[in-house]
Parts: sequence; structure tokens; C-alpha cells
Amino acid sequence: MTETSRYTALTGSGFGAELGNVDLARLDEALANEAVDAFHDAGGLVVIRNQGHIGPAHLRRFVTRFGTPEGNEKYDPAFLVPAFPDILRIGNAKENGKYTALFIQADPPPLLWHMDDSFRHPQPIGSCLFCVRTPPEGGETAFAGMTAAFEDLPDDVKARIESIRTVHSYNHLNELLRKKNPHRPPLNKAQLAQFPPIVRPLVARHPETGRRSLYLPLCHIESVEGLEKAEGEALLSDLQTHATGEDYTYMHRWRPGDLVVWDNRCTLHAPTPFDDTRYERLMYRLTFSGRQISGF
Ligand SMILES: [Fe+2]
Repeated sequence: MTETSRYTALTGSGFGAELGNVDLARLDEALANEAVDAFHDAGGLVVIRNQGHIGPAHLRRFVTRFGTPEGNEKYDPAFLVPAFPDILRIGNAKENGKYTALFIQADPPPLLWHMDDSFRHPQPIGSCLFCVRTPPEGGETAFAGMTAAFEDLPDDVKARIESIRTVHSYNHLNELLRKKNPHRPPLNKAQLAQFPPIVRPLVARHPETGRRSLYLPLCHIESVEGLEKAEGEALLSDLQTHATGEDYTYMHRWRPGDLVVWDNRCTLHAPTPFDDTRYERLMYRLTFSGRQISGF
């Protein structure tokens, strides 16, 4: 970062950066490059506030600097922003009694730390959330920086884990969610065939920065190769406890006009619930594709 940097670190470890004094309606090359550089320098999390005046086109143009926006074919077209099919509305907004957004209420703590869709390849490399409306309390989003968390591990732990591989599975996640919500259906045959378990490194190398991170969406990981179930679970649980400690985590309390971009290759995130009987929450979400992680 230069002396003229507009960025503020969001955590003690340096994970996460807030960019101040920015107008994304006037995005130019210099600002776009600065934002992407800060995103990578800060371990894959950028926060920009006070953008309530921008429209979907500005949002989309900015996100395109981080990756290629993905389509939303699997969602109800009524949840997409008109004329911007890559922007999905998320929240409990309704019109004439019908949801106009995809609403998934978060569970109460413990936080469900995850990286989006790590069980599919190619994985979406990142996402952006833009806040349109938010409740006065609840509905926050927590983030954890896996690069700083890995780099701070003792050398003997790094050496022990750097060649370990884990099995990620959509079915494992779905069954975990079904324990809390028995009305959630099991995956059907087509879904099981579309998302077979896949092997991932526990320590991932980032394709842009070359830095290594814990690749640890615990709720997606059904087993650790070469370890007994209990031993594998204990290892991952210990690592997650370390990696979601205070130095590496940031809780974003939303205000309208906030925009957050994160990198699924080196950060975890988790939603918190809100009282949807009293409050309305509405966010725009873009998910983007790009270069994938590799092992060490
Ligand atoms: Fe997510």
C-alpha cells in the first residue's frame, strides 16, 4: 500500500480492506486497479460504503474487474434484477405477497463458515453483495481470512498439513442442513450425479497472488484423506477454531449502499439471522468465475 492509499485494514492480521472516498459511478482504470490490488493484498476482502447512488450497471461493471459474472439460470427469474440476469436479489422482499428475492434465513450461531460451492469445479471464485435495505439488527455477514490464518500457523503444523487432501461434498452439506431443518429434502439422483464428491487440497495456492491459504469450508468437508474420521474431524475443527479467531475475522454490519467483494479461494464467510417478521432485508448479489486454486 502507498502513502496515498485510501484503504483501512479491517482486522489485526491485515485481512480485509475498507476503501474510503470512492464513487463507483465514476469508476476509472486507476480506481479499478487500486481496488483489485487491495483485494488481493488484503487476502480477498474489500468493503466500500456509501454507494447508495449507483445502479446495477455500475455494480456489474465494477465486479467484472474481479472475474466473469456467472449466470443465475438455477434461480426463479422473478428474483433477478430486470435487464441484469447476473444480478440476483437476496432477502425477504415481497410484492403482492410473493417473494421478489431468494430468501434463505440463516441459522442462529454457531456461524456456518463456508466458501461458496467448494464442492463443484470450477468453483465460483468470488461474490459481491450490495445492500439495498437492511434491518437495524441481525443480518450481518462474517468474514474470515484464510491466508493470514495459514501464514500465522507454526511451521510444524504447516508442514504437517500442506499435503493433506480433503473430500468436499454437496450431499454432506445438505445432510448437515437437514439435521437443523428436517423439511429440507435430501438431494435427488440428478443432484447427486451433478455434484459428486471432489478432492481438494487443505492448503490451497492462490492463482493470482501465489500465497497459500487454509481451504477450510468445514461444513462441505466429509472426510480427510488418509486419516480416521475422528482424527480428521479433530484436525479440521482445531484449524477452524484458529482460523476464525479474532485476528482473522471481520463482522460486516450492513448499511444501505454498502458493497462487499470477497474471494472464495482464500476467505470464509457466514450469515447471521434477522427477524424477518419485523424487518426487510434486500441485497443484490453477483457471483463470478475465474482462475482456480491449486495444491501446494
Ligand atoms: Fe455463501
